[in-house]
Amino acid sequence: MPTKNTSIHGEWSSRLAFILAAAGSAVGLGNIWKFPYMAGENGGGAFVLIYLICIAVFGLPIMMAEVMLGRRGRQSPINTMKMLSQQENAHKAWGLLGWCGVLAGVLILSYYSVIAGWSLSYVLESTSGSLRYITETKAGELFSNLIASSLTLIFWHTLFMLMTMIVVARGVSNGLEMAVKYLMPALAALILVLIGYSISQGYFMLGVKFMFTPDFSKINQAVLLDAMGQAFFSLSLGMGAIMIYGSYLSQHASIAKTSFAVALADITVAILAGLAIFPIVFANQLEAAQGPGLIFNTLPLAFGQMPGGVIFGTLFFVLLVFAAWTSSISLIEPAVVWLVERCGLTRIKASVICGSVTWLVGLGTVFSFNIWKTYTVFDKTVFELLDFLTSNIMLPLGGLLIAVFVGWSMRESSVKDEIAMSSSMLYQAWRFLIRFVTPVGVLLIFFRVIEII
Ligand code: PHE
Repeated sequence: MPTKNTSIHGEWSSRLAFILAAAGSAVGLGNIWKFPYMAGENGGGAFVLIYLICIAVFGLPIMMAEVMLGRRGRQSPINTMKMLSQQENAHKAWGLLGWCGVLAGVLILSYYSVIAGWSLSYVLESTSGSLRYITETKAGELFSNLIASSLTLIFWHTLFMLMTMIVVARGVSNGLEMAVKYLMPALAALILVLIGYSISQGYFMLGVKFMFTPDFSKINQAVLLDAMGQAFFSLSLGMGAIMIYGSYLSQHASIAKTSFAVALADITVAILAGLAIFPIVFANQLEAAQGPGLIFNTLPLAFGQMPGGVIFGTLFFVLLVFAAWTSSISLIEPAVVWLVERCGLTRIKASVICGSVTWLVGLGTVFSFNIWKTYTVFDKTVFELLDFLTSNIMLPLGGLLIAVFVGWSMRESSVKDEIAMSSSMLYQAWRFLIRFVTPVGVLLIFFRVIEII
């Protein structure tokens, strides 16, 4: 029985390449667009605290487990799970986990691409100078006009899906490595520029207070679920994205160290984004709980007022698109690789098929902001429903099952051999988290929610 497999899809050139690609997957709209509005909607500090705890007790252990499974299986998540369950004498049904991940990836990308499309349109707004000295009312109008036009949204959504398909068709390559290596730090630097601006305006501390003073009375089941969902979404966990990147990781790289580096980069960008946005919100007396439009209603105000705003604004939105791009690739990679393995399609054909299906599903999100705005199920629009279903249910469920598979179904000798941690104390701690803390924690949050429904 083989214990070490090699990937037919290639391997990262170095450990750094994997860290960069995985960080590219993790850092994206989730950090800059979603984290601030989620924190804003869920009362700030309490949400941030639970989010950080979820990353530590669920996120990091599951990330290590996912990378480990990927490297051991060296195939698409579907086939990795099928093969490992055979090798480990576990039930065949574990293969379903891969399927669930592929579905989650397509559903997430369907709306992710629409939001990335908003960012693309703001690149144009910044370059054209229309954000210069923009007022709150005008910024609000700009955003509502954008989302009111389904045709405009379809145009940008199509463009972003095409960008994603082109890269995926060509294969996860050095291009990705380069993009993340230079563009990610540049994005962080621009967020620092925004923070600098907030400090100079004198409202910085208001933002800090909002984000770091937890008001425990605000914690309820919904906040817990949102914070847990955000931790999974932000780290790209529970759907096979990190697993597939792990499948290209060389045998010698340390899974623990690489996962830690990725999680750290991810948290840092999210917190910085929050610190950049909330001071602007409070300085302009805007609503922190305004939802998905938050960054698009606030950041133009800052870029409109600061010196060099046209350049900084354009650069910021360009980099935001890049961050979204490096995440979208990983959302669709599991599906594409599976089609290549299963049907023997070329990567190009597989990308066109997956991309087209995702594009079509994305129209639901496009319309949910305009012509279908009033159609709701459980009080949620199509976009809200997709987001809730994927981030808050499918990803944590996927993570929970991964934890159970690794902690309970795999032989310990295989796990130990593949994860190869040098410190036995850290290994024991990780094993304890993955076997007990993670599954029980996720279930607790789930069931408390079921209670209120
Ligand atoms: N982590 C990405 C972000 O924060 C989104 C993502 C989720 C990517 C799940 C892959 C898998 O934007």
